[in-house]
Amino acid sequence: MAIELLPPQLANQIAAGEVVERPASVVKELVENSLDAGATRVEIDIDKGGSKLIRIRDNGMGIAKDELALALSRHATSKVHSLDDLEAILSFGFRGEALASISSVSRLTLTSKTAEQSEAWQAYAEGSQMDVKVTPAAHPQGSTIEVVDLFFNTPARRRFLKSDKTEFTHIDEWLKRIAIARSDIHFALTHNGKLVRQYRPANTDIQTQQRLAQICGRAFAEQALSINCEHDGLSLSGYLQSPNDIVLTDTSFFYVNGRLVRDRLVNHAVKQAFAEHGIDHQPGYVLMLMLDPHQVDVNVHPAKHEVRFHQSRYVHDFILQAIQSALVQMPELSFSEQSEGNVGDVEPHSPVDNNVQQDDSAALKNDL
Ligand SMILES: Nc1ncnc2c1ncn2[C@@H]1O[C@H](COP(=O)(O)OP(=O)(O)OP(=O)(O)O)[C@@H](O)[C@H]1O
Ligand SMILES: [Mg+2]
Repeated sequence: MAIELLPPQLANQIAAGEVVERPASVVKELVENSLDAGATRVEIDIDKGGSKLIRIRDNGMGIAKDELALALSRHATSKVHSLDDLEAILSFGFRGEALASISSVSRLTLTSKTAEQSEAWQAYAEGSQMDVKVTPAAHPQGSTIEVVDLFFNTPARRRFLKSDKTEFTHIDEWLKRIAIARSDIHFALTHNGKLVRQYRPANTDIQTQQRLAQICGRAFAEQALSINCEHDGLSLSGYLQSPNDIVLTDTSFFYVNGRLVRDRLVNHAVKQAFAEHGIDHQPGYVLMLMLDPHQVDVNVHPAKHEVRFHQSRYVHDFILQAIQSALVQMPELSFSEQSEGNVGDVEPHSPVDNNVQQDDSAALKNDL
């Protein structure tokens, strides 16, 4: 076969293979775009688990009419302009390909209005060349992205979709994780026209606590140890399941500069700190690490849910120490007796998410 350039749609569909695994991946990319655009309110409407419709509406800064076509093209982004930018990423997006990928495997329309424009415009890409049509529309400031018939033209991928209920659960679970980290944002999630979740913005400590309880359960929120630690440019904040709370939970959420990531390092540090007190089960946690973006490489995985620390041993030891000191400050260390209870018989707080990374201490030691 002769070597030929791929038509844009096919190139985008190949890229979509890595990024758009299922409806929840589309929701992730679109909500992250809304947050990058400074939205304070994000509405997510899902029909049939997302295979029929995913609609994200935000009140962010919007996209100017003459940039709509670019927004739908591959390798087009407002977030990175140079290698220096790429080495100091604080936005969720930086690859400039999510919209192009999603629109190559669905019928996507993008409607947007900026504060400067008096009217809104709508764009959609068609055909193998993905030419973009732009037409006038009605929309307040912000953007709405509508993704209809996901994978209609990639039947192999469509066949991998699970039931509507399962796909919706993946969306709901992902939204929980982002809603904890961004308690300042109002999120509303509907499924088949019915409001399923409403996360109101939390502006006070009590409201933040309420959001934590809404997502991780009352027991977790009431008993969790709060973590707040800063040292030499690293800061760790969040919550750690109390050693006195022996209910099994799948709450193990770790964020690096606001990005939800999978990382064995934090699991290992948490487990090690608990093991020092004779507890061998894995406690739940919601931990947010902030550090100089130059110290972490976010360009590691196409779906952007892995990072690489320049000094992973140092980061590990910092997290370990933060957790050790939270444990030491507990008023009574009565938990070692309780940990001998029959933990395995207790129901988890919520369905186990198969995306949660399992700890693998031996492999981690090699990595560090
Ligand atoms: N909801 C939105 N509000 C405002 N601008 C948006 C929105 N969604 C996308 N954009 C603009 O469109 C561009 C392309 O979005 P896209 O998601 O494809 O790429 P990205 O976010 O830059 O990088 P990545 O592929 O890593 O997500 C963005 O850089 C941004 O300028
Ligand atoms: Mg993006």
